[in-house]
Amino acid sequence: MAEPVMVMDESGEPNPYLLGVYAPVQDEITAEDLKVVGEIPKDLNGVYLRNGPNARFPMKGRYHWFDGDGMVHAMHFENGRARYRNRYVRTRAFEAESAAGRSLWTGVMENPKGNPFGNTRGLGLKDSANTDVIFHRGQVLTTWYLCGSPYGMDPLSLETLGAETFLDTLTGDFMAHPKVDERTGELFWFDYGPRRPYLRYGVVGAGGQVEHCVELELPGARLPHDMAITENHAILMDLPLYQDMDAARQGRYKLTFNRELPSRFGVIPRRGQAHEIRWFDAKPCYIYHVVNSWEEDGEIVLDVCRVGRPAPAGSGSPLARMISYLKLDARMYRYRFDLRTGRTSEGFVDEDHNTEFPSMDARLTGLRSRYAYNVSVKDASTNLFDGLVRYDNVTGGKETYYYGEHRYGSEAPFAPRDGATDEEDGYLVSFVTDEREGTSEVQVLHAANLGAGPVARIILPQRVPLGFHATWVRADQLRGSAT
Ligand SMILES: [Fe+2]
Repeated sequence: MAEPVMVMDESGEPNPYLLGVYAPVQDEITAEDLKVVGEIPKDLNGVYLRNGPNARFPMKGRYHWFDGDGMVHAMHFENGRARYRNRYVRTRAFEAESAAGRSLWTGVMENPKGNPFGNTRGLGLKDSANTDVIFHRGQVLTTWYLCGSPYGMDPLSLETLGAETFLDTLTGDFMAHPKVDERTGELFWFDYGPRRPYLRYGVVGAGGQVEHCVELELPGARLPHDMAITENHAILMDLPLYQDMDAARQGRYKLTFNRELPSRFGVIPRRGQAHEIRWFDAKPCYIYHVVNSWEEDGEIVLDVCRVGRPAPAGSGSPLARMISYLKLDARMYRYRFDLRTGRTSEGFVDEDHNTEFPSMDARLTGLRSRYAYNVSVKDASTNLFDGLVRYDNVTGGKETYYYGEHRYGSEAPFAPRDGATDEEDGYLVSFVTDEREGTSEVQVLHAANLGAGPVARIILPQRVPLGFHATWVRADQLRGSAT
């Protein structure tokens, strides 16, 4: 295996998110006939796709893990065989830097003034589409956490299909974690930014056009990351962690956690108007990711990974602060919003284990689901996913599988077995990278029996850097796709 070329930033300070298991890879490859330990199940058919930052050029200024260029790594499973492929998301900014042969943008740790262009909110930061990867209407959409253009990508060739405008109906930007309702074909999204309107909520219909979009009033600029849907509602968040606007005016990016403010959850009918939103108060916290939400006996149930103390104590260099802010420390948590009384009840599902990047059977998005599959977050200074945890919200039980010393995985979405009817009848798939060897493999586990370990390990010819979000696209969805 070739030695990786080191991509540094201009600070000269060693940045852990550019080194070791995070170091970007240089090559875009396609590989098949790979060595398999065990056997790839013949009833596992579809594509596992994972997005993440992969800095292409030495950074202008300091590098933040969220700054890297989006790269999708994919494993296509078909009748007991598997093929690996990785490709950059060719965003407008990526193409501009390719033409220049160097970085043209500074990242979130520097003043973006002077950058070539940004999102429609005028943020001036590089929309790298590096955050999530979802599937809707035959194509993959890659998205960016600070709101940008969703970039279409072919799920098999990983060819970038361009910025998705939803037949020229999208105005403004798109956040990282839109929700797809497979039964209706709709896509639910929001758009946020530092200037009014602070939050817009919208729906793309099954025909591929934005059919609904409303501006929602917030007390100030916020940083919502995820949302939820139920059968009849969408749920949006107003959380008391936000950008310090005084610092922003000086061109600095600084977050503030206001412990005096509640967390607020806005419940709005799926096609509701702004005045129809109902806000439910809860204890202050931050939430990156929603597991699922549904309606039950006049209440809305919302399961999340909740960050109880989002602002780390102490100070230090900008790099040290970035590292401590980035470190995930979340617990599985359940809210109930009573639509009759307006009351909120809340509590831990699991108070002990730091778990994040949750997934579940995507066919049940917005409907009652029993199982959640989260990554276990290692007790370390940077984000390392050392295993998988399956939660059973009927029995309250959990099962954990660890990859082993110095081995770290990715988000592992549920992949139903062909013809599966039960929500645990399938597999979990993850890239697993070995810190000491500098190698990667794909592991396939039975979702119903994580403790048994992988049924297949597929050895890859190239390391897969640790990254962000993943999705599973079933073979029956691929048949309707662009290729
Ligand atoms: Fe996320």
